[in-house]
Amino acid sequence: MALIIAVFFVIVVTILIYLQWPAWKLSKIPAAPYISGLGHLPLMAKYQAGVFIKLAKQLGPIYRFQLGRQPIVFVASADLCQEIAIRKFKVFPNRVILPYMKESWIHLHGLFMTKAPDWARMRNILLPTFHTEKLSAYVPLMERVMGQVVEILDKHANAGEDVNMTQLLQRMALDVIGESAFGTGFKLVKPSWADGRSEDKDMVNAVLNSLDTLTMNEKAPVSTFAGLFFPFLQHPIREIMKRIPGTGDWNQYTGNLLLEAQMRALLERREAEMRDGVVRSDALSLLLDARAKSQEMRELLTDERVLALAYELMMAGSESTGTNLCYTLYFIAAHPEVASKMVKEIDELAPLGSTVAFEDVDKFKYVDQVIKESMRMITFSPVVAREAMEDIKVVGYHIPKGTWVWLVINALAQDEEDFPEPHLFRPERFDPDCAEAKKRHPYAHSPFGIGPRMCIGYKLAYLEMKLALIHFYQRYTFEHSPAMENPLAVRLSIVVRPIHGVKLRVRKREIC
Ligand code: HEM
Repeated sequence: MALIIAVFFVIVVTILIYLQWPAWKLSKIPAAPYISGLGHLPLMAKYQAGVFIKLAKQLGPIYRFQLGRQPIVFVASADLCQEIAIRKFKVFPNRVILPYMKESWIHLHGLFMTKAPDWARMRNILLPTFHTEKLSAYVPLMERVMGQVVEILDKHANAGEDVNMTQLLQRMALDVIGESAFGTGFKLVKPSWADGRSEDKDMVNAVLNSLDTLTMNEKAPVSTFAGLFFPFLQHPIREIMKRIPGTGDWNQYTGNLLLEAQMRALLERREAEMRDGVVRSDALSLLLDARAKSQEMRELLTDERVLALAYELMMAGSESTGTNLCYTLYFIAAHPEVASKMVKEIDELAPLGSTVAFEDVDKFKYVDQVIKESMRMITFSPVVAREAMEDIKVVGYHIPKGTWVWLVINALAQDEEDFPEPHLFRPERFDPDCAEAKKRHPYAHSPFGIGPRMCIGYKLAYLEMKLALIHFYQRYTFEHSPAMENPLAVRLSIVVRPIHGVKLRVRKREIC
């Protein structure tokens, strides 16, 4: 009996040491109390993305967060974020590879997860997709897709029906990115798949499915959760669970197979086009042209990387833009005074019937402020990840090589110093001439991240969100649907998503 108790004791102590080990190296950094092994996951389940803000208020600008067994050093002041992401970029050039991604090559080989220096070479090849002259060429295609959204909104307005804007605007954003990155209209807003391009529909379904499976909630693959506590179990559990239909692992695995097949088919079509001399100027062509130029580029841009980069633009460019636009509509609908001021600006600069050229977009100062304030109220990516590539000291704390150091950009957005009364939706705080804006830290508002690894598509996203607001408010005003919960329910998966969607009632303006 004594032997059994002793063995049991040794096992328990070994497990506890194993679970606590990674945190000991960082034990000087303040942390809220947590249960060994579970870490702060219960707090995260309770407060969602708000937990990072709450802990920053409680513990200060640098604190330790336990994601299961994995410690993460969170930095939650604009100054420290600038320090990590810009001044110390050489030490922190990479993101951490998250457990979600490890089992999925298509998520591993894009820009997000590729490490420097390959990352920088890949980013440079893609950058021209987002240059001013390219963006300007996207305006007519955006307007075409927005015209289709307007047709749908018209029908709902006439029928007095509510619209789930989340679905509609994600489809709009996917259509836009489809054309700008791949030169192929997915026609999701106005499907015309009957006309023979069903491969696009399959690919889009594969992307949507892939987005759905990349969650960190109860639908997440069991292997992902296991990886948080016992990383060495992630792969074997994945191998078992992916064979059991209906499980999260199976959904992700089969979804990725479908996605891979669709992406490979797209690549083959485009290579065949190139051989036939068809010239295109979208992101995929930039990659294919670059790798045709030299052996060095062929080694950098493998099939896997080209496919992963193409997939990544589609994924990163659609859900983010569509959802942020939805949040903006949600906040405007709750603030009629903001809606009136914005409509006034739109009517003055672009009355219904006029078109908005790329050069004119910057003139819509208030629309710009409204979008910024909405992105501050709900920070879509509340944290952005970095990893220390060498030992370093940060505000006196020793950070060993390999430590996960993340920037808590939603805490910056709620800091009372930079944003007095942060809970209030007040777009005027982004008027560059107001005292609040003048004294604000330059990185306090960083919804697209900070430094050389900042979002590559932010100009495209801004352009699309601005044009969409102009298009919509030229014609309609929006109210919250009585069927929508108030306040809006959101959940943290990798990003902050509305749980049931943003449902709005569309009213035609009298002008129409
Ligand atoms: C409102 C819309 C968007 C938001 C809020 C957003 C947010 C972000 C954030 C926070 C990051 C991490 C930055 C960092 O680590 O410092 C990021 C990276 C990235 N985003 Fe976006 N994004 C948006 C739209 C887009 C669009 C339209 C595209 C492409 C078409 C895109 C492609 C990417 C890529 C490829 C990266 C990785 C960049 C790198 O590692 O070099 N995003 N985004």
